[in-house]
Amino acid sequence: MASFEFEKVPVDMSGDLIDKIGRTEKKHSLFEEEARALPVPVCSVFLGKDGKIAPASFVQTDTTLPRELQDQTAKAFPKSIAESGNIVLKGVAGNHSSKPTGKRVAVLFSGGPAAGGHNVLAGLKAVLGNSNTLLGIKKGPKGLINGDVFEISTENIRSIYNTGGFDFLGTDRTKIKSPQQFEKVKETVVRNKLDGLIVVGGDDSNTNAAFIAEYFLQEGVKCSVIGIPKTIDGDMAVGKLLPISFGYDTATKIFSELAGNLNQDAASAVKYWHFVKLMGRTASKITLEVALQTKPAIALISEEIAEKNMSLEEVVDYIVHIITTRRLKGINHGVVLVPEGLIEFIPEMSTLIKELNRVLAEYESDIKDLPTLKHKQEYIYPLLSPQSAQLMAALPDEIEGMLILDRDDHGNVKVSQIETEKLLIDKIRFKVSEIKRHTDRYFGKEEGRIDATPEQIEKIKSMSLSTQSHFLGYEGRSGKPSAFDAAFTFQLGLTAGSLALAGKTGYMAAVTDFDKGGAILALPLSGLITCETRKGKEELVIEKSLVSTSSRSFKAYARNRDRWATEDLFTSPGPIQHWGPTSRQIPMLVALDQEYEDYRNFNLGEERRIEFE
Ligand code: FBP
Repeated sequence: MASFEFEKVPVDMSGDLIDKIGRTEKKHSLFEEEARALPVPVCSVFLGKDGKIAPASFVQTDTTLPRELQDQTAKAFPKSIAESGNIVLKGVAGNHSSKPTGKRVAVLFSGGPAAGGHNVLAGLKAVLGNSNTLLGIKKGPKGLINGDVFEISTENIRSIYNTGGFDFLGTDRTKIKSPQQFEKVKETVVRNKLDGLIVVGGDDSNTNAAFIAEYFLQEGVKCSVIGIPKTIDGDMAVGKLLPISFGYDTATKIFSELAGNLNQDAASAVKYWHFVKLMGRTASKITLEVALQTKPAIALISEEIAEKNMSLEEVVDYIVHIITTRRLKGINHGVVLVPEGLIEFIPEMSTLIKELNRVLAEYESDIKDLPTLKHKQEYIYPLLSPQSAQLMAALPDEIEGMLILDRDDHGNVKVSQIETEKLLIDKIRFKVSEIKRHTDRYFGKEEGRIDATPEQIEKIKSMSLSTQSHFLGYEGRSGKPSAFDAAFTFQLGLTAGSLALAGKTGYMAAVTDFDKGGAILALPLSGLITCETRKGKEELVIEKSLVSTSSRSFKAYARNRDRWATEDLFTSPGPIQHWGPTSRQIPMLVALDQEYEDYRNFNLGEERRIEFE
């Protein structure tokens, strides 16, 4: 029996200091050595009577996933639906006397990195054991198409366990769509004699997984396809069945530390307004979590803005109102959190983006060949509605240029590259200077005006608005996984490996009940599909989970935000603790929406050192 434990291998710290520093290269910092020695919890369904890790079995629950698009999904996924009935499965302790052997399971990362990916691999390796083989696919779906497959050794797992990033395998965003690509995927699977394929990804990557699973069923390829919910955005979530995707906790903790520091700096320097754009693509879940953790002056929630049908001008007015109110109270600083996808939710911008998506898809090759932004503008404007053309012309050139950038392979606008925070700053500065120049228009007792005394008006007139812009995104995706993400991803690996060994296909591994030992689920991918417009066309994709204004997490923010806006009540959550008193925290958004009693202590089973057989 081959076995190993994640034991701390102390770095040799003898000799000259220059040599000592050299010895901590390539993932051997003192911190990374400590991190590799941390134990991980294991849900009880993965433990055999001997206390060793073993695959779980799966039974049907009485939950069938909504089939809102019955006709379209039935047409696209006939075999998957026939096989699963779209019924959710639950993991139970397996029959350990008949453990599968000789199975070959390959795994790939897809889309943006998220902390914990390497622990998915550790979970897979632990559950497959030495009697099955774990293989890695390099560079995501592109590697799957090109057949870039290798065997993952126990030694590899030892070195990557509990470390951040996706660098061990790499990742990419290729959408598998053409018959030739599907054929190539089949070739890779057949050539490598794969019994299982694990796709670690977000909504687009799990959509890829759903279509591959269906294709394999139709082609008679006996290979399980299992998705794993990854994305810092938190939009890969399914109510009580899957509270969140992995990576969200680590990213929001990293961003909250930085936003907390900015709050602290703003209150110390007493002269800056910091505008912080936060990654998260369409959903404002990251912004909401960071707001709950740091209590800034302002946090914009895109979903609420869309629901209230607020124009860009109204968003600007809302921020200016808080800036001036604080100024009257003697507070001339603050932090504004801006969700990355805001621009897509402002009604007039959303109409413009939809029109641009259609135009860019229809005239793709012509537009690509045009040499300058000016040429592109001249070509595109007449193809837009007059309102959108006018709006586009009023935007700064940089924003315009970013809006007409290529869409990604899945048809998404590259919102991470649009500098919304700078657009807001421009408009707010202009508005504040307007107010200062035309006090007669803005102050007074009438509705919609600011009610202020002559001294207060003088205060506003003398106000200077100094702004700083920030974008927090890439720095949150590849950090060492938080204790929560490390535990969550290990269970996801154990779940996906168990499903593949059980020959299940077309499911996404899920974990829920983070507060009471963890419950293991398998969600049929075809039951999660909905219809979205991408590149101007209707497409079947996994449904994104956005912030709901009726959720407890949103209400927790909405109930407190007016006080946070007018008084300096910010908190500074500090750096992630990987062990110690705050290391057990789960996202506040999850604890609120799942109706847990507390957010301070997750429970995903008994902690243990891992053994491989
Ligand atoms: P995934 O949904 O693939 O996990 O990507 C998340 C994300 O970090 C988004 O928040 C962001 O908009 C996007 O990736 C940036 O993409 P890229 O890495 O291609 O710049």
